[in-house]
Amino acid sequence: MAISVPHGGRLINRFVDPKEVDRLTQKASQMKKIELTPREISDLELIAIGVFSPLEGFMGSADYQSVLDRMRLANGLPWSLPITLSVTAAEAAELKQGMEVALIQETGLPLAILKIDEIYPFDKEKEAVAAYGTNDASHPGVAYTQTLGDFYLGGKIEMLRRSPIQRFHEHQMDPAQTRKLFEEKDWKRIVAFQTRNPIHRAHEYIQKCALEITDGLLLHPIVGETKSDDVPADVRMRCYKVLLENYYPKDRTILAVFPAAMRYAGPKEAIFHAICRKNYGVTHFIVGRDHAGVGNFYGSFDAHHIFQKFTLEELGIQPLFFDHTFYCKRCLGMVSAKTCPHDSSEHIALSGTKVREMLRGGIKPPPEFSRAEVAEILIEAMSDQARQPK
Ligand code: ADX
Repeated sequence: MAISVPHGGRLINRFVDPKEVDRLTQKASQMKKIELTPREISDLELIAIGVFSPLEGFMGSADYQSVLDRMRLANGLPWSLPITLSVTAAEAAELKQGMEVALIQETGLPLAILKIDEIYPFDKEKEAVAAYGTNDASHPGVAYTQTLGDFYLGGKIEMLRRSPIQRFHEHQMDPAQTRKLFEEKDWKRIVAFQTRNPIHRAHEYIQKCALEITDGLLLHPIVGETKSDDVPADVRMRCYKVLLENYYPKDRTILAVFPAAMRYAGPKEAIFHAICRKNYGVTHFIVGRDHAGVGNFYGSFDAHHIFQKFTLEELGIQPLFFDHTFYCKRCLGMVSAKTCPHDSSEHIALSGTKVREMLRGGIKPPPEFSRAEVAEILIEAMSDQARQPK
């Protein structure tokens, strides 16, 4: 086995030649401008650096429809969630196929040029039901879809520059860099761990189980937009750093950020997350309980079952499935429903709500749930947050 071949066969790079940046920026200043949402900015960058290989731009209607209907691009390659750029009807009325537009961020800075291939209307309700399995506005992905304009623009992008608002510089690694690093380390089997929550013992347990059967572990917390009540990325990164320092083998663990926005699409996002990690060169991907889930929208193991819809060959990355894991007082260790014979009264499994309540009250959850170093960071972050003027 060797590191994964990019999805579709080739790692995409949509950055223009550095010598052309000034000229093209000047050219972009004469074009119509489309201001991107934070999620669109993140998607743009992920297209440019190849995380979304083989996509070279925002989806046209054929790919979009095919992804919603059958979780495949129009050419048949597995792909589970739409990657789109929306505009309002008023903006769409001023645009034409073949036109070039400047994709700008809030400050007016042009980030990329989009050559418009297609302008097409879309049905928000249909998209929500297909992507998230619901049209309930309390689902954060559905709520986001409802804020969009009524038209999508499809077409390839030419990236001029990254948004200057970059965070976690020391942990930023593009697919080209992780691939090079894996080669240098001569790792053949690399497992990635997606996460949007502060690390707890169950996370650590499944990561280390996976590392037992692989050469290296890529800890890949998502740092793009998450919902407002999720713990902020900088706090989660602090938790990771303190644990890495004390409990992880330095020569087998890499901490790098995954700069995508969280969709909360449960099973479909598990496929999406796996394909993105494949583009980073990873060969194995952890999928645990209720991966990328929110509320009660998905069954605890829907994100396992969905992988049956694809062959391993066409996905090109091996999922590693984990049952619900927790600490058992009789076994004296981390276990899962699969490995422990004892009654649930012997188990320490706390709900997210319960843990938040404890942390807010300055109480550390038991060490069987969360390591003390992590609990201390979370308690401090919560009390800082509580002190901030509303
Ligand atoms: S997620 O939205 O990124 O999936 P989270 O950070 O909580 O949320 O989970 C990261 C990964 O760990 C996911 O694959 C998830 O399924 C898995 N996971 C989280 N908690 C547990 C647990 N107690 N048992 C098994 N897997 C878990």
